[in-house]
Amino acid sequence: MIKLHDKHFEPMLKNELIETEIQRMATQISQDYAGKTPLFIAILNGSFMFAAQLMKSLTIPAEITFLRVSSYQATSSTGKVLELLGLQESVENREVIVLEDIIDTGLTMEKIKEQLLAKNPSSFALASLFHKPEALKTPIEIDYLGFKIENKFVVGYGLDYDGLGRNLSDLYVLKEE
Ligand code: XMP
Ligand code: MG
Repeated sequence: MIKLHDKHFEPMLKNELIETEIQRMATQISQDYAGKTPLFIAILNGSFMFAAQLMKSLTIPAEITFLRVSSYQATSSTGKVLELLGLQESVENREVIVLEDIIDTGLTMEKIKEQLLAKNPSSFALASLFHKPEALKTPIEIDYLGFKIENKFVVGYGLDYDGLGRNLSDLYVLKEE
């Protein structure tokens, strides 16, 4: 068991298991995109470790860039607005594959996808390392998925609790007190 800030977390998935799964995803993507040069767009901060591991296992030429999203409340009537920050590369006519750490409600990815599609990529796919099916609030198609997990808060392998835990090589789940 580990402690981050005030909370305790228990081991959930070992690094070896996570990386075996990422290898499988990379093999599948390499097959599906044979003869192409996709542009990977990794969503910061959480996906940095997943992105690094996946890229090392690809057997096709590929580019990677990083995107940060900021969400803020515009007005009470329009709800949350999400802005894509840091995307310099042209997405037009590219085979885009978005890399995300985890799809929870799916609301963040729904907005990211909408904004990327507006830039006219030739194709769009989503690869997510983790997914909490029970938390989903909008239909999101995950083309490449690592693990379906329970609807509980997790840290490690890039995911954080208030800034801590991203560097842990295994995945941990919040311990219920
Ligand atoms: P939605 O709900 O829009 O959110 O799919 C996706 C983002 O929420 C964060 N998230 C988590 N971060 N442990 C974390 O450290 C979790 O269990 C967790 N669930 C969601 C994450 O940043 C993701 O990009
Ligand atoms: Mg995140």
